[in-house]
Amino acid sequence: MHKAYVFDAYGTLFDVHSAIARQKATIGPKAEAMSETWRTKQIEYTWNTSLMGRWRDFRDLTAAALDTAAALHGGLPEGLRDKLVAAYEELDAYPDVAPALRALRAAGAKTAILSNGSREMLANATRAAGLTDLLDAVISVDEVRIYKTSPRVYALVEATLGVAPGDVAFQSSNRWDVAGAKAFGFDVNWVNRTGKPDEYVDLPPDRVIGSLSELT
Ligand code: LAC
Repeated sequence: MHKAYVFDAYGTLFDVHSAIARQKATIGPKAEAMSETWRTKQIEYTWNTSLMGRWRDFRDLTAAALDTAAALHGGLPEGLRDKLVAAYEELDAYPDVAPALRALRAAGAKTAILSNGSREMLANATRAAGLTDLLDAVISVDEVRIYKTSPRVYALVEATLGVAPGDVAFQSSNRWDVAGAKAFGFDVNWVNRTGKPDEYVDLPPDRVIGSLSELT
């Protein structure tokens, strides 16, 4: 057991594709490709904003990424854009999340989120998914105004929870985030629910898990 279990939010606890999936009947067969592009552009914008030394919060970048994805995939039906951005405040949580958080806390560990999401987005999403009482902290990059994979982001864990990096197990489904967390010094579980191929092979995870139930 580790003293603290820290989780990436989007893609790891929350299904980012649930926003567009809910509107699939309206968007049609391009929905899945649009959702993939939305996510890819969202992350690209975080890296580029940080490299430029600039700051725009995650809701803003999420909306900008959706505009690009819609433009690349033939547009969105009237009125859907704002609905999709708002869906980020109430994404579906994966079914293994609440039981895993409950079990870790019962075993005496601290639990937290460390995410690119803005404070407000994360508070809303955790509340909507019924996770608020299962987390000791919800840590947002808003504190440092730079995105993952800056070490300044991962350093927020010790500053907030008072737990040294070596005592932290970090979980992410995003392989690039796994690499960043590993470079920083956490013990890292790559949550690979869908059998994605490995990347960043110079910074391997300590473990690959298919479900958060494997943590306890
Ligand atoms: C996060 C994104 C990167 O929650 O998944 O930090």
